[in-house]
Amino acid sequence: MNRGRILRKNPLVRSLVRETRISGDSLIYPIFFEEGRDIKSEIGSLEGQFRYSPDRAKEVIDECLDHGVNKVLLFGIPKEKDTVGTQAYAEEGVVQQAVAEIKKEYGNEIYVVTDVCMCEYTSHGHCGILNGHDVDNDSTLPYLERIAVSHAAAGADMVAPSDMMDGRVAAIKAALSANGYKDTALMSYAIKYASSFYGPFRDAAGSAPSFGDRRSYQMDFHNSREAMKEAGYDEAEGADILMVKPALSYLDVIKELSQNTDLPIATYSVSGEYAMIKNAGKAGLIDEYGVMCETTVSMYRAGSDILITYFAKEIADAIRKGDIG
Ligand code: PBG
Repeated sequence: MNRGRILRKNPLVRSLVRETRISGDSLIYPIFFEEGRDIKSEIGSLEGQFRYSPDRAKEVIDECLDHGVNKVLLFGIPKEKDTVGTQAYAEEGVVQQAVAEIKKEYGNEIYVVTDVCMCEYTSHGHCGILNGHDVDNDSTLPYLERIAVSHAAAGADMVAPSDMMDGRVAAIKAALSANGYKDTALMSYAIKYASSFYGPFRDAAGSAPSFGDRRSYQMDFHNSREAMKEAGYDEAEGADILMVKPALSYLDVIKELSQNTDLPIATYSVSGEYAMIKNAGKAGLIDEYGVMCETTVSMYRAGSDILITYFAKEIADAIRKGDIG
């Protein structure tokens, strides 16, 4: 008889043979910043997540640091939106303010990543410049460059383009370099699927497209070879980290990517994944904590090195307690 149970006999031997080891160092926490003053408002679609004004950044960053989370990904919600997303690259834009505020207070104690995209800033809610009803790839690129440069100028350590335009990694890298930010890192949302899991985020950021959908730029969820092609383009263009998004329905893609790249792999467990677990837990249908732990480990087991998640603080606690990791 093969006695597989020998290695599951007690906690010590189970901890000895554990194949997936997780560190809180690899977690990134997404935060929404809203233009204005003295704001902290709970996001209806994302229980436990808040929109903050930049002047209250300290509150949320202190909370992260208390849990041992020292990497954050910032999103912005401007007051004014227009067809070209002007507030996305405004010097005094909401993300630029938040980054400056955080860097002034914490310096290198916290690593700040910014989402580079236009959908939260455009009146039409699409991720680029429109030509009729089409998002025009090449005329969008200079805008993405400006956004990224403005984030770097505010002090961002890393920019993360999430728009899915072709050629944007090379364009942004060149623009950063030309403007004196050659050391700003770039994490590419390389493999981003057109997903219904983004619903709660679009509610949180007011970024749902006013017509049509994002399927002409985000990826078709039937495809994984195409995902490797997209990742290959971004790697060749100089991305420092490649991201897969969403997480749970795409564990196979994470696995495949991990066998096809030498770059670090980040996974974004998105708003819909968080909301499903939260709400099913609240309804008494599942054990929220247990499912959070299990799904998190699955993303690392698939090959992810980095995890972006709204559960980052709770996961850091779970690792510290020894429940996972
Ligand atoms: C912006 C962006 C989105 C998300 C991250 N960056 C929304 C979208 O593409 O519609 C989704 C994140 C989440 O659902 O948690 N383009």
